[in-house]
Amino acid sequence: MAELIALIGGTGLNKLSGLGDGEDREIVLPEETPYGAPSQHLELGRIAGRSVVFLARHGNSHQLPPHKVNYRANIWSLQQLQVTKIIAVNAVGSIAAHLELADLVIPDQIIDYSYGREHTFFDADVEHIDFSYPYDEQLRQSLIDSATELKQQNEAFGFAASGVYGCTQGPRLETAAEIRRMAKDGCDVVGMTAMPEAALARELDIPYAGISMVVNKAAGIDGDTISMEEIRAVVEVSVERVGLLLKHFLQGG
Ligand code: HPA
Repeated sequence: MAELIALIGGTGLNKLSGLGDGEDREIVLPEETPYGAPSQHLELGRIAGRSVVFLARHGNSHQLPPHKVNYRANIWSLQQLQVTKIIAVNAVGSIAAHLELADLVIPDQIIDYSYGREHTFFDADVEHIDFSYPYDEQLRQSLIDSATELKQQNEAFGFAASGVYGCTQGPRLETAAEIRRMAKDGCDVVGMTAMPEAALARELDIPYAGISMVVNKAAGIDGDTISMEEIRAVVEVSVERVGLLLKHFLQGG
């Protein structure tokens, strides 16, 4: 089967053109799925000469909060298009002290604190999946290789090759005590969208990896409250870095 990579864009990345690449964009019409409609129409485009499918997780005008995203319809639609890999971009807050604003993290583990989301395709029969390692290791390694090369070219390209992603329900940010608890649990970053997305991809056997953009220090980490204005400024830098990483990755792989 020909390789077709899907990108799921999160906060700050609602359009494929957000990656600074205007080649051959074409809209694949929205598909109803057995699970309802996906977040938005899928875009079929090219990055670094390679075909990619793009899906804006929150919709093209960022209208869907994390708990309202139809994760099942999104992943099911990508499977219908026969994508062979999914790279998911998520904005996160950092809990681990070594993570700086605008760093990229390629997480290797997840702790799920979300609730009440439609989280499985296996509602009608008893089927269990192995989820010991929620992210596809081969895809993760390819992203890490690209990020390592970018860091060799430019020391300022901050990234971490592993991290535990704690997925909260949102849309509010966490309390400082919740973040202290998550730190004790072993979380390095906190976001709202990795789950159930990663598990649904695993249920359909689609290799899935994430790029987490550190857009703020998590609640209470630096003693201050969190400014949405500051987050927006960091998101811009982070999305540029994600664009560099994806282009490098797609050129190489
Ligand atoms: N918490 C949860 N989700 C987030 C955060 C955060 O601090 N920053 C960006 N997404």
